[in-house]
Amino acid sequence: MSGHQHGEGDATEMFEPQAWDERYAGDEQIWSGRPNAQLVAEASALEPGTALDVGCGEGGDVIWLARQGWHVTGADFSANGLARAARHAEQSGVAAQVDWWQVDARSFDAAGRTWDLVTTHFLHPPDGGMVAATARLATAVAPGGHLLVVGHAPSDTFTQLSESHRRAMFVAADLLPGLPPGFEVLVAEERPRTMTRDGVTHDVHDATLLARRTPS
Ligand SMILES: C[S@@+](CC[C@H](N)C(=O)[O-])C[C@H]1O[C@@H](n2cnc3c(N)ncnc32)[C@H](O)[C@@H]1O
Repeated sequence: MSGHQHGEGDATEMFEPQAWDERYAGDEQIWSGRPNAQLVAEASALEPGTALDVGCGEGGDVIWLARQGWHVTGADFSANGLARAARHAEQSGVAAQVDWWQVDARSFDAAGRTWDLVTTHFLHPPDGGMVAATARLATAVAPGGHLLVVGHAPSDTFTQLSESHRRAMFVAADLLPGLPPGFEVLVAEERPRTMTRDGVTHDVHDATLLARRTPS
């Protein structure tokens, strides 16, 4: 996802919905609109079904999945983010294949509902919260379905970010304790990617965890 621009300074409030609502309140598009590289790499090989994208932001991944034939639920805790994503889906002609869910990844309860693919990109809750988020996301994966969790691996590229943001980064192996029994790990690695920010290209790594829930 080129176009990533995290807030700077001490930014613990950036982990809360109000800050994201403010960020999405203006007219300027924040993310590139292109699907994330690891999503394309992994989901292209899957048979389309139902998908849940948590922390969907402006909806780039939701729209790409819908275009591949998935029925997609875009979830985010920012109402403004979801409104933007819905607008983009409408403009992209995939509105009929998508629905939206305003929910916090740290506390959501899917109430027994499951999806064939549960995916999240660059969510980064604070204080090691991604392990608990992974466990929660796993509850929403249908038997035989896949869980794809992607985030920023720690890197010198991110030294300008706040300490709390850097602590929220992870490598794929950090997430393994969050996977419940009944999941087979297919990928747990850091994948190189180039990212352009303010016209400068950076080499970064995407922490990538792909796991499959065993069919019941
Ligand atoms: C860095 S953006 C990534 C957006 C999108 N996944 C992408 O790759 O373009 C993070 C998104 O996650 C959302 N978010 C952050 N923390 C969240 C949480 N605890 N629950 C739900 N959404 C969250 C933000 O509102 C934002 O839209």
